[in-house]
Amino acid sequence: MTRHFLNLSDAGGDALAAILNDAMERKAARADLPKGAVDPDAPLAGHVLAMIFEKNSTRTRMSFDMAIRQLGGTSIVMDAGSTQIGRGETIEDTARVVSGFADAIMIRTDDHAKIDAMAKAATVPVINGLTDLSHPCQIVADLQTILENGKALPGLEVAWLGDGNNVLNSIIEAAGLMKFNLRAGCPMGFEPDAAFVKEAQKAGAQIMLTGDAKEAASGADVVVTDTWVSMGQDHAEEKIAALTPFQVNEGIMALAKPDAIFLHCLPAHRGEEVTEAVIDGPQSRIFEEAENRLHAQKSVLLWALGKLG
Ligand code: CP
Ligand code: NVA
Repeated sequence: MTRHFLNLSDAGGDALAAILNDAMERKAARADLPKGAVDPDAPLAGHVLAMIFEKNSTRTRMSFDMAIRQLGGTSIVMDAGSTQIGRGETIEDTARVVSGFADAIMIRTDDHAKIDAMAKAATVPVINGLTDLSHPCQIVADLQTILENGKALPGLEVAWLGDGNNVLNSIIEAAGLMKFNLRAGCPMGFEPDAAFVKEAQKAGAQIMLTGDAKEAASGADVVVTDTWVSMGQDHAEEKIAALTPFQVNEGIMALAKPDAIFLHCLPAHRGEEVTEAVIDGPQSRIFEEAENRLHAQKSVLLWALGKLG
């Protein structure tokens, strides 16, 4: 069966653990190599990754491009607007055509239904590079960063402050799969997807939604936030006003555990969801997190192509 990676649950907890181990091992093994050098085992030699972007990207684009190169393969990157998708060719026809040229497809799009449709029609693995619903690849990198900072996942207390968005939905999914707990401080009307919350709770994770930023942050091992206005959303003044009490600042970080780390998927809006003092402060791990997109994406590709797990 074709292994799609549309959400973390497509892999499941055991495969996610294998992906994380592989990402950390591969990263350590090539620490002394220049960035463009191929991993000595070149596990995806001869493979082609097609990437389709319907939204902007810096990290996802670079990390997947470098990931396939380091694994020995090559990439084709397409901005949807300059393809025939931009002129109305269907997702299904595009999926079939691209499947004839590439061994895997990574797509960043808006409506999650589009990636579901692409996966249904494609004959090669489809990987979610972000939709309005979820951002699973980001969370693999986040979990890797947490592990590399010496924190075990089971029982971990993660605090989210801000918008109940795609990134939070994937963190909630990860909590269910990897057995950590999450306190999400979100204003009313900006809560995460209810189905993701229910599923994680069913799997045994404690998922608490609170309107109190301090309650969310208290005693946390990891504090996470993201932009208040995601791609494709209006910069609505009411939303910004509702989110203002959920800014991650030094007062909030002081409520977390003394050795807590701060994560942000980036891009950040400094002075909005997080202050400069926190994002540039000693607890911030944002650039390790960004680099881990590369290492994590390599192992996601290996899993999707049946070379792992
Ligand atoms: N975090 C993330 O997905 O970044 P890009 O939008 O730059 O890809
Ligand atoms: N929530 C953000 C994440 C960007 C990586 C967005 O969807 O724009």
